Amino acid sequence: MAYGLENLIEDCQKALADGASKAALGEVCTAMANVLKNQSFVEQHFGTHLPIGRSTLYHDPKLDFYIYAHIPDGAILSPPHDHASAWAAYGQAVDHTRMSDWIIPEGEILPKPTRTYLMQPGSAGFYDVGELHAIDMPASSRFLRITGTDIDVLPCKYYDEVDTRKSIAAHL
Ligand SMILES: [Fe+2]
Repeated sequence: MAYGLENLIEDCQKALADGASKAALGEVCTAMANVLKNQSFVEQHFGTHLPIGRSTLYHDPKLDFYIYAHIPDGAILSPPHDHASAWAAYGQAVDHTRMSDWIIPEGEILPKPTRTYLMQPGSAGFYDVGELHAIDMPASSRFLRITGTDIDVLPCKYYDEVDTRKSIAAHL
């Protein structure tokens, strides 16, 4: 049997049972990479036959993590942001995402990019509580996301005043 949603859920539960340490989040990413290698899982949850939007594939009632399949409504260029008190892990399902890491240098107000990398299908990475990232993806990009609680209700901070593309270009 190919590695599927049930395996992903089980491995996330095991990884997060003793808390969301960086090692545990690394294990969540390994599980995401495993499930994204399963082409029938990708087709079932990210196929072109599906409507645009976000589907909740699972919510763990005890550990409170969510597994989402995202089919964005067009290209996304998000400014750097945090996820308030939550962590978030991203796994690329279809096409690519140009992801960047940001930090706020001591004594400054606005974040600066420290790293930019390309996420290809099957790759996964996480942002721990308080870590900043920005997203640049084409309309055809589709991704799996696992978050440590429902991020939508949290006061995530977006640095809209930062010109993401320009800042990254200046950094590279
Ligand atoms: Fe994010």
